[in-house]
Amino acid sequence: MTTTEGLQDVVATHSQICDIDGTLGKLTYYGVDIHDLARFSSFEETAYLLWHGTLPTHAQLDELKAQLQSHRTIPERVIEIMRMLPTSTPPMDVLRTTVSLLSTFDSNIADRSPEANQQRAVRLTAMLTTIVAAWEQLRNGREPVAPLADGDHATNFLYMLQGEMPDTYSAHVMDVALILHADHELNASTFAARVTAGTLAHMYAAITSAIGTLSGPLHGGANEQVMRMLQRIGSIENAGPYIRGALERHDRIMGFGHRVYHTEDPRASHLRAMSEELGKRAGDTRWYEMSRIVEENVMEQKGLYCNVDFYSASVYYTLGIPVDLDTLVFASSRIAGWSAHVLEQYANNRLIRPRAEYVGPKVTDYVPIEQRG
Ligand code: CMC
Repeated sequence: MTTTEGLQDVVATHSQICDIDGTLGKLTYYGVDIHDLARFSSFEETAYLLWHGTLPTHAQLDELKAQLQSHRTIPERVIEIMRMLPTSTPPMDVLRTTVSLLSTFDSNIADRSPEANQQRAVRLTAMLTTIVAAWEQLRNGREPVAPLADGDHATNFLYMLQGEMPDTYSAHVMDVALILHADHELNASTFAARVTAGTLAHMYAAITSAIGTLSGPLHGGANEQVMRMLQRIGSIENAGPYIRGALERHDRIMGFGHRVYHTEDPRASHLRAMSEELGKRAGDTRWYEMSRIVEENVMEQKGLYCNVDFYSASVYYTLGIPVDLDTLVFASSRIAGWSAHVLEQYANNRLIRPRAEYVGPKVTDYVPIEQRG
């Protein structure tokens, strides 16, 4: 047996969904380049691709959009239970708890057919943004904003979050951010989802595992920490001294480094450009400029590239999204990839059960409690 800490470079399964070339900085979903998806597709098209393996025709896309729209509303009793949670609850805990709760409202839970699971993937994707937006309203003492009956996923998300229709560019930025985060091979949360699905637990259990795993600052939780760092930096002048000090102290800089990429994360280039453009449109490029200085310093002194979480922080901030919802935006996109992987796991399942190399004490005699000193 060989032991690989953190399972680095261990190939744990076959998958057709997503491929990463960490040396060339290439990312594809079912063979389609992430740059093309970001430039030409929509989140709905990308989700279809992840679930079905091909890009949709017009008719297939229209059908998926209609399904997503029809499942946007979450059960009233779910909202009632959310109202009981302390308003200070970390939002990722609210999301994890609420998604777990949704299984109890699935009247068809015993049906584990591929068709029923496919429907669950669509429903969960439709509902996640509603949960996030509902929590934002509830914790601020307001009633949730009812989802739009039509319109695309990104527009509806911003509308429910902010209570007014977003401008076209903001909706486009959200759409691209959702595309970029939709899947990423066997990252920690997707692995957690597949481990749970591998026991033949239901999809809600798998997605609940994934949300818990995403919340950590070494994974999806990094985007919130990036924004908190930028807020601590506070000014363009302070960015260089702050980051040099942090690197001298050997602090871990959130939004940098990656287990798989040894070059620029292809998703980061889109987010960097959108961060700049959003800043210009808002007449405040401060967060973008601070980010650039941080990026240059971390590259110069540590040779580390930024990852998807770095520029998504200033993008979401400039879109007006509260900082503690950053990781929930990530989850609202990654639900497409998580559910695609869960479907793939069910389709060709084998229990995921690795071994641990035992390094504990040698076999010893049991000492009765009276004789222990
Ligand atoms: N800041 C400072 N040093 C770093 C960083 C960082 N962000 N990332 C890696 N290093 C250093 C680390 O200190 C270590 O140096 P040394 O060998 O001298 O001790 C070396 O690089 C290798 O680090 P590692 O932690 O062993 O690498 P890993 O592959 O286990 O970790 C990582 C990958 C993403 C957890 C790590 O780069 C990190 O903690 N980054 C910050 C958190 C972050 O941005 N997470 C988001 C990841 S990408 C999107 C997502 O999944 O959500």
